[in-house]
Amino acid sequence: MTDAASGSGRVARAVVEGRFVTVARVEDVPPGTVTTVAAGDRRLALAHCDGALHAVQADCLHLEGPLGEGRLEGCVLTCPWHGWQYDVRTGENEFDRAIRLETYEVRVEDGHVLVRV
Ligand code: FES
Repeated sequence: MTDAASGSGRVARAVVEGRFVTVARVEDVPPGTVTTVAAGDRRLALAHCDGALHAVQADCLHLEGPLGEGRLEGCVLTCPWHGWQYDVRTGENEFDRAIRLETYEVRVEDGHVLVRV
C-alpha cells in the first residue's frame, strides 16, 4: 500500500501484523492533531490528545464527513462539514451520547502506532 492524499488529511502506510495494523509513526500525529490513516481496508481518524493516541472511524455519523480533517480541541473532534462533535476517547457524540463512533484499540511499539481492526 502506498501513501495517498485525502483532502488535507493523510493516509499513512499500513502493514498487517496479526490483528493489529501499523497505521503511522508517532511523530506523524503530534499532540493536539488528528489525521486520516488506513488500517487494512478501513479509514480511521487518528487523534493525539490527553497524552495518548485514539482511533475512531473516519466517517462522521451525520453525512460521512471526513473526521480526520476535523478540528481537535482537547479530545473533542469537530467534523469539518457541519460541526458535529465527538469525544475521540469514547467515540461519543457530545450532544447525544447515544450516538457513538466506532473506536479502535491503539498501541505504540518502537515509535509505530498500531490499531486493532
Ligand atoms: S457530516 Fe459531519 S457534521 Fe455533517
